Amino acid sequence: MVPSTYHADDGAAYERFLGRWTQRLAGPFIAFAAVPADGDVLDVGCGTGSLTLALAQDRTGGRVVGIDIAEPYIASPAIARARRASVLEVGDACHLRFADGAFAGALAQLSLNFVPDAAAAVCEMRRVTRRAGFLPARSGISGAGWSNQRLFWDTAAAIDRGAAAARDRLFSHPLALPGGLIGLWQEAGLMQVEPASLIIRMDYADFDDYWQPLLGGQGPVGTYVGGLSAALRSAIQAEVRAAYLSGATDGPRSMTATAWAVRGNRRLSYGLAQADCRTSRCAAAARCAFFSIARKCFTSWRPKGVRLAPPPLTPPSWVLTAGSLKHWLMLSTSSQARR
Ligand SMILES: C[S@@+](CC[C@H](N)C(=O)[O-])C[C@H]1O[C@@H](n2cnc3c(N)ncnc32)[C@H](O)[C@@H]1O
Repeated sequence: MVPSTYHADDGAAYERFLGRWTQRLAGPFIAFAAVPADGDVLDVGCGTGSLTLALAQDRTGGRVVGIDIAEPYIASPAIARARRASVLEVGDACHLRFADGAFAGALAQLSLNFVPDAAAAVCEMRRVTRRAGFLPARSGISGAGWSNQRLFWDTAAAIDRGAAAARDRLFSHPLALPGGLIGLWQEAGLMQVEPASLIIRMDYADFDDYWQPLLGGQGPVGTYVGGLSAALRSAIQAEVRAAYLSGATDGPRSMTATAWAVRGNRRLSYGLAQADCRTSRCAAAARCAFFSIARKCFTSWRPKGVRLAPPPLTPPSWVLTAGSLKHWLMLSTSSQARR
């Protein structure tokens, strides 16, 4: 099986095409991900390091490690800043070299759609995350979520059957459909799985700013455009331009991108156990206080001449309710009466 379906051979071209927008996605994703503040974090399929860099700037403790199968991205001079702030290396999401539980959280931004065996990648992310760690992911090519992509693909699909086939492959991918990421997280045995939809804006200066990055050869769009004849490419360009302008003069356009996101815990009990623990400690303290008072009252207010031993100091927890308290007192006195 090929490790990646994403054509990635030029880091600078990726930055112009998608990296500048994935930098914007990183902020809302990190906020949603809520990775524990301590410990190392892993960015799986880090590309040119948009999320890796944002994570490194956001965290005070622990290293941020980014891995990607595409050596040209990891080695790209365009990502010097990300390289200074974190550890970036070539690696396959399905075969991570890290030890079990090495990270506080493992994140994947827009990469799982392009890993042919996404389930294996999630299992690896789960394995390298510590027991109380978080696994958030964001699926990039949601059904109609990326309006810049739809503008291109829907226009091209009306002209070329090859574009229609490529569009259908992209947008019918299980992770692009509602519930796809949630299912993947649940199948990997993750708990407290929560979905979200994250939105950013992509602001283009003019049509050239929209069109030229598509010719950089990166990802499915780059692969498709790179294989077109000159005639078909200019026919598609003319139609895409008309759609971009939509009757107005050339200039800035702002498009939105929405992405499915999901997060989950390796272990259900972590957050809940903390809460349960606190709750049960409070309940135990309240129970002890209550019964210590009840015991004092019982011994000091007993009827004159009646000799009753006080109730035991460690009553069972069910005696908290009024009904069971009565039951407990009755048991206590009847046991005295039997003596
Ligand atoms: C759309 S890019 C996203 C890059 C980056 N996360 C971002 O937000 O800009 C998808 C990335 O997934 C990477 N990828 C695909 N399959 C992979 C695999 N098996 N292991 C590691 N990375 C992979 C590609 O090389 C590419 O860089």
